[in-house]
Amino acid sequence: MLPVITSARDIKQKIKDFRTNALTVGFVPTMGALHEGHLSLVRQAKRENDKVVVSIFVNPLQFGKNEDFSKYPRTLERDCELLSGVGADMVFQPEPSEMYPPGFCTTVAVERLEERLCGKSRPGHFRGVAVVVLKLLHLVSPDIAYFGQKDFQQTAVIKRMVSDLSVDVTIKILPIVRNAGGLALSSRNAYLSETEKIDALCLYQSLTKAQSMGKAGIFDARKIAMEMEEIILARSSAIIDYISIVHPETLEDVPEARSGNVVAVAVRIGKTRLIDNVILS
Ligand code: PAJ
Repeated sequence: MLPVITSARDIKQKIKDFRTNALTVGFVPTMGALHEGHLSLVRQAKRENDKVVVSIFVNPLQFGKNEDFSKYPRTLERDCELLSGVGADMVFQPEPSEMYPPGFCTTVAVERLEERLCGKSRPGHFRGVAVVVLKLLHLVSPDIAYFGQKDFQQTAVIKRMVSDLSVDVTIKILPIVRNAGGLALSSRNAYLSETEKIDALCLYQSLTKAQSMGKAGIFDARKIAMEMEEIILARSSAIIDYISIVHPETLEDVPEARSGNVVAVAVRIGKTRLIDNVILS
């Protein structure tokens, strides 16, 4: 059985024991409801470290007032089975009161980066992410922590935070895992109806279009965004939050889409907000 640790004291002790035995530690933070995207991170962590710790914590601080905190899928038993299957050594599943005891009032603002892209429609989200990730990194003190490119802005915020605050950890970003149609796997895909799942393919289709326009020598970011918009709006359930072509570190809009820039989209499919991106090559 996969050990599930719920207290900060116990996780610190376990990590100390690993260190005493000169074992390296890989860490994969998650909010549970695990799928192949999460598991790809755990597999990579297992290849590169002696021990792998996975946290499962639906972090209240990163959900807005009208967001899906209470209905976010919670599937601990299944998650643990999946994690055992890919060689995770330990689950850290803290209680909210353990992470945020009464009187908790500290935040971590990765200024500017937190305001762009998803930050516009999800104010406060990236402070919630930064606080919980910094706290988890302190508790687990891994050698390497693994994140998915799926949440591109999150990776930019975390890399910046780790560098700015001299956190002693290597951050690795792994590629997006998609289903056969191209839809990026996400715990929130569980909210989609069958027809919405088909409509949701428009995100990746629009990104593929951007990629192919670049290859055909069309670099004008506005032109690319307009073509993408057309593909997305052809789906009846789709409402665009943003289509942006940005610099990978500053997340600032670029006028010309060049190799290394990121094309990022956020689209509401019915009631479900989905995000996706590609790095232009
Ligand atoms: P969560 O959405 O559970 O995702 C956990 C990790 O899995 C993140 O690094 C995310 O980018 C990665 N991931 C999700 N879908 C993926 C996919 N299709 N392919 C590859 N990787 C994927 O992101 C969070 O949780 C939280 O914000 C967290 C970092 C845990 C802080 O609360």
